[in-house]
Amino acid sequence: MQTESSTLVARSPQVTEFLSKPRKLLIGGKWVEAKSGKTFKTLDPATGEVLAHVCEADAADIDEAVKAARAAFNGPWSKLTPSQRSRLLWKLADLLEQHTEEFAQLESLDNGKPLAVARIADVPLAVDNFRYMGGWCSKIEGNTIPLSAGNNFLAYTLREPVGVVAQIIPWNFPLLMAVWKLGPALAAGCTVVLKPAEQTPLTALRLGELFAEAGFPDGVVNIVPGFGETAGAALAAHPDVDKVAFTGSTEVGKLIVKAATGNLKKVTLELGGKSPNIVMGDADVEVAIAGAAHAIFFNHGQCCVAGSRLFVHEKLFDQVVEGVAAKAKKIRLGHGMDSGTQMGPLVSDEQLARVTDFLNSGVSEGARAAAGGARHGAQGYFVQPTVLVDVQPHMKVVREEIFGPVVTAHPFKTLDDVHIAANDTIYGLGAGIWTRDLSIAHRLAAKVKAGTVWVNCYNVFDAAMPFGGYKQSGWGREMGHNAIDLYTETKSVCIKL
Ligand code: NAI
Ligand code: MG
Repeated sequence: MQTESSTLVARSPQVTEFLSKPRKLLIGGKWVEAKSGKTFKTLDPATGEVLAHVCEADAADIDEAVKAARAAFNGPWSKLTPSQRSRLLWKLADLLEQHTEEFAQLESLDNGKPLAVARIADVPLAVDNFRYMGGWCSKIEGNTIPLSAGNNFLAYTLREPVGVVAQIIPWNFPLLMAVWKLGPALAAGCTVVLKPAEQTPLTALRLGELFAEAGFPDGVVNIVPGFGETAGAALAAHPDVDKVAFTGSTEVGKLIVKAATGNLKKVTLELGGKSPNIVMGDADVEVAIAGAAHAIFFNHGQCCVAGSRLFVHEKLFDQVVEGVAAKAKKIRLGHGMDSGTQMGPLVSDEQLARVTDFLNSGVSEGARAAAGGARHGAQGYFVQPTVLVDVQPHMKVVREEIFGPVVTAHPFKTLDDVHIAANDTIYGLGAGIWTRDLSIAHRLAAKVKAGTVWVNCYNVFDAAMPFGGYKQSGWGREMGHNAIDLYTETKSVCIKL
């Protein structure tokens, strides 16, 4: 791990302008202040300095936003044809693409991730997702059903939008998480109230400006930054919201489920993970080492699918651990807007405290750091990329989601041992397998309880490939046609002829 001091990329004039004014709430097509008049600060996590002031929604604003979403759902949005919805989503994708640099800079500043990563991953994936989902609008079809109740019936299904949808998202991929949720909801014909994470509201708010520019009717998308316990809780409990889609911690996921019981709104959840990454004895070692490092260190380990438990066949264990540790030590930490930076800070002082507490707990339970193991520097929320060895299955660092650049490494002997160890977790989001043996790859992929299994790759996401969790990693799937399904209701129409 190294720190380089070089100059930061200059902020674009649009970014400077965007950050210069307090950002408001988007409700019913208008930018408004919070009814309470309150604002909160969003910080640069590399320095702790204030980036911008943001109006803070609470229950009263949420209520207005839900009313606006309902009015748009019953009104102009329901009148558009599928092809008109497609064209709006494609136009939105084009606008986002045209503003790639601006969005990448805002994302880097607000979240801390390297600008280069935001440019090549976050923004293009978001653009692609809107384009893919835009294509679905005209392909949401029902079926005709042959009834055994009699030959004198015609039965068919209609697929209708669920209605007004609340979407609550986290801070690790602020723009992409917004788009994963908005794309299928809008394609299916729903209207939305979106609450970005309080740590990273900026790109969602900038995206809000593009909806009007693309020609979306007022109120189809409402954006209400605020805190979880106030704005988020009010949204999840709101009686006129038909569905809530949430990405975040498993702990809050359970609160969302409880809050949804009032009107039994539909719920989809994308929650935590403790994903196993398995290097078999026949793997291409260099490829596996690079893959294991990428699986945990991408986005500073702040990925719900982070490959945070590395299982290595005992004959390769020392070599792979040394290789990943060597890579960890070489990662250049720095400000996201520094072109030399390979890893930025964690998103907040709260996350820094969480991750360093995990590191201390690991060491006190007997783990040893083969690389890293502590905070990096005194300014900003940086943590050293860390590889922990001498770990046992009961340790907190092995059982709980750390959500930082920290991997635990475990040797194994046989395929049976490793699939049992891999599944020894309450989570089931992602998994990686590194092998040259096709039979092992397929056998293990079938045995691992995870929503996505990557073989000889990791962190490959595609708008067409469903993503979500087994067990306590969530309910439902995002992306692909599964996402569309979860924003529609199926209505059976049965006619006696
Ligand atoms: P969180 O789950 O509290 O926050 C995620 C979103 O939920 C934010 O928009 C927040 O405002 C909202 N929220 C919080 N409490 C709420 C409530 N009672 N009702 C409705 N919405 C609420 O996650 P946090 O505190 O930022 O991070 C804590 C841990 O959660 C992380 O260390 C990580 O382990 C996990 N996490 C997992 C994520 C994932 O992608 N699976 C993303 C973010 C965090
Ligand atoms: Mg929280």
